Amino acid sequence: MTDGLPMAVPARDLPARVRIHEVGARDGLQNERTVVPTEIKAEFIHRLAGAGLTTIEATSFVHPKWVPQLADAEALFPMLDGVEADLPVLVPNARGLDRAIALGARRVAVFGSATESFSKANLNRTVDESLAMFEPVVSRARDNRMHVRGYLSMCFGDPWEGPVPVHQVVRVARALRDMGCDELSLGDTIGVATPGHVRTLLTELNEAGVPTSALGVHFHDTYGQALANTLAALQHGVTTVDASAGGLGGCPYARSATGNLATEDLVWMLNGLGVETGVDLGLLTATSVWLAERLGRPSPSRTVRALSHKE
Ligand code: HMG
Ligand code: MG
Repeated sequence: MTDGLPMAVPARDLPARVRIHEVGARDGLQNERTVVPTEIKAEFIHRLAGAGLTTIEATSFVHPKWVPQLADAEALFPMLDGVEADLPVLVPNARGLDRAIALGARRVAVFGSATESFSKANLNRTVDESLAMFEPVVSRARDNRMHVRGYLSMCFGDPWEGPVPVHQVVRVARALRDMGCDELSLGDTIGVATPGHVRTLLTELNEAGVPTSALGVHFHDTYGQALANTLAALQHGVTTVDASAGGLGGCPYARSATGNLATEDLVWMLNGLGVETGVDLGLLTATSVWLAERLGRPSPSRTVRALSHKE
């Protein structure tokens, strides 16, 4: 390490700029064993914006019994007034959208699954029932001129069903796109993807009429493949990458899911590749160290560890 930045050696055939969709406050904190105080969540999000992140997923308007860690969404959202970033929120159904609209949210995300098992575990619905639940949500959100993201979980493997056939993912992706989702985020919920699999899925989605410009990637880092998978996606032309500050995360309804790709690890690589993100790595690392102190354990991000141990 020099002064906290790698030497930038631009690579060819990569996008000039990547938009990081920061999910630590939602995907990260939804998985904490203890409920993080609302004030800490609010400060975390303010700090993330201060570090240059422009899309910060704030919370979820889901059933509080299903995800008690995010049951304070109504208290948290107003505390984010003045944050200079887009603040998307998760909404699974009409009730979730009502709650989000009542607080003035402008961007929402529905979250479907490529597999029946996870759809049941996460939404208490079959895949087709979940699509029927999302359809009026997406349509009403669009009528309200809100931006709608469609998450698609278990795109590569599922803890109950094993490897997931690509055509199964394409079918649900098409359905989410056809109902009007502005962008899709391809979730490797349990982190089993490898780069060739990522390329194949992206290619097949393009062939099914889903343009790369409407696709983001969402890698969990269970097997240490998240950065390699991200590079494969960037080489394919993807410019939206989900990541979680400090590598927080997991999913309460998928036992084998661990943290997301750490935002710091992503920014380190993108800095080295000369790809712009607008993120200040020093401020972001300081934020993750600050949160780790409050959570009582160190961040799993290799970059956070390296940058915060400089004797
Ligand atoms: P359900 O039990 O089938 O709900 O749960 P229901 O529709 O039968 O309604 C039952 C009661 O819940 C009703 O109340 C509703 O009003 C209430 P009652 O009439 O009995 O008094 N209710 C709600 N209350 C507040 N907010 C709501 C809401 N909806 C219903 N939005 C449900 C269905 C979808 C609600 C439930 O399964 C749920 O909340 N699931 C959320 C699970 C979740 O948040 N998982 C984590 C996010 S996904 C993820 O992490 C993956 C991702 O990161 C990508 C990746 O990594 O792959 C995105
Ligand atoms: Mg996730």
